[in-house]
Amino acid sequence: FSIDLFQDDLINWFLQEKRSLPWRENQDPYRVWVSEIMLQQTKVDTVIPFYNRFMERFPTIQALAEADEQDVLKAWEGLGYYSRARNLQNAVREVATVYDGQVPANAEELGKLKGVGPYTTGAILSIAYGIPQPAVDGNVMRVLSRILFITEDIAKPKTRKIFEAAVEKMISQEDPSSFNQGLMELGALICTPKKPACMLCPVQEHCAAFKQGIQEELPIKSKG
Ligand code: ADE
Repeated sequence: FSIDLFQDDLINWFLQEKRSLPWRENQDPYRVWVSEIMLQQTKVDTVIPFYNRFMERFPTIQALAEADEQDVLKAWEGLGYYSRARNLQNAVREVATVYDGQVPANAEELGKLKGVGPYTTGAILSIAYGIPQPAVDGNVMRVLSRILFITEDIAKPKTRKIFEAAVEKMISQEDPSSFNQGLMELGALICTPKKPACMLCPVQEHCAAFKQGIQEELPIKSKG
């Protein structure tokens, strides 16, 4: 397995094939943050119109920090999981007051903000700031379980750390944003839970599961 060739194949594919999505228009850390919170429990197609409307109403940290909670919840209506909206506004108010409106560019401070876990921290650091940090969610675990033949149970909370360690070894130092988003995009477009499109996969030749024809057996996920 060549990390260099894998990075090149993944990143070149991402740069050519990535969907134009509203949160990819620029690298504003606030925009990246909101998108990643919305995308945690909601599909991309559903998120897009809510995201656009939310950004029109609350275009900046300042605007969201100063908004009435009821107006924020109103804008979130339809997305569900309202604690996400409350936590987001709470965290944004913290950034406005404690960090002078600048989203922190380090894992320690980000991780202390309400609703910002390891995944969101990694996504903000890599996508907005270009800092090589893993951003491992369920989709990324599926993709990497196949490429690297990782058979750990992804339903176990401790398993994410195994994948984070793998990403730390593999992530591009030059373009961590495209590397992480490439893994997400691969999971969304090619390396799907059922019937993955291996014949179209840009990293097929690097994939341990494909070599053995067992891509659909991975990831291992227990029910409990
Ligand atoms: N799912 C989670 N984060 C995403 C992103 N930045 N782009 C597309 N899908 C995602």
